Amino acid sequence: MSNLFTSSIGKKLIMSLAGLFLIVFLVVHLGINLSLIFSDTRESFNKAAHFMSSNLLIKIVEIILFGGLFLHMFYGFYLQIKNWIARGRFYSINNYSQTSFFSKFMIHTAVIITVFIIIHLSDFFFKSKFSGEIPVVFYNGKSYHDLGILVIEKFKIPGFVIFYIVCFIFLAFHLLHGFWSAFQTLGLDHRLYTPWIKVIGVLYTILVTAGFTLIPVYIYFFM
Ligand code: HEM
Repeated sequence: MSNLFTSSIGKKLIMSLAGLFLIVFLVVHLGINLSLIFSDTRESFNKAAHFMSSNLLIKIVEIILFGGLFLHMFYGFYLQIKNWIARGRFYSINNYSQTSFFSKFMIHTAVIITVFIIIHLSDFFFKSKFSGEIPVVFYNGKSYHDLGILVIEKFKIPGFVIFYIVCFIFLAFHLLHGFWSAFQTLGLDHRLYTPWIKVIGVLYTILVTAGFTLIPVYIYFFM
């Protein structure tokens, strides 16, 4: 068990599992966010956001989410730095059997996504958790944080919209390689299945990033 945390392959395994968890998180997160633009009112979005922050089970999942995010980032940067140090002198730890264009830029896209997540969390998550500035709305006499209006106000700022879209493009680059690479690390490298995993990874990436991009664009132009 201690090998899992100390060996390079163990760290890569943890990174891949955490990555797959984040891949699932993105779908849930996108689904909730899309309700903001596919609904006439902000009610379903605000209620979903409220449910996500008040339900005990979801709170536990949230702790796992932040743990996963941390482990994925920490081991990702750690292994890359180790790889840089070892390269030329020993051997390459990242044994990319097929080095694709996107695999070469995983660390660069990771840095941009990290900056994005820090800004994103401070704009929405930390504000909703720790600041008293969030407006409140009432549905059936019950009060909710109006996170929807916060998102809409942000996406009325052109610079913010452009920043988000640029970050989504980098997220797409990261996912294009990360998706199938996670499966490969977990041992699923097969002549028959790998091409399918790659196709699913590309479809997933296109749908998820297009869905996220639609939100700021739609809010900026139509809401
Ligand atoms: C247009 C796109 C997006 C919108 C409108 C959006 C909106 C939000 C909002 C309002 C919150 C706070 C929820 C709460 O406190 O209850 C949040 C949290 C969060 N977002 Fe996003 N988000 C977007 C894209 C992303 C992307 C692409 C990522 C990851 C790369 C991401 C990662 C997170 C994380 C980790 C949290 C904290 C956990 C959570 O509250 O679920 N978000 N987002």
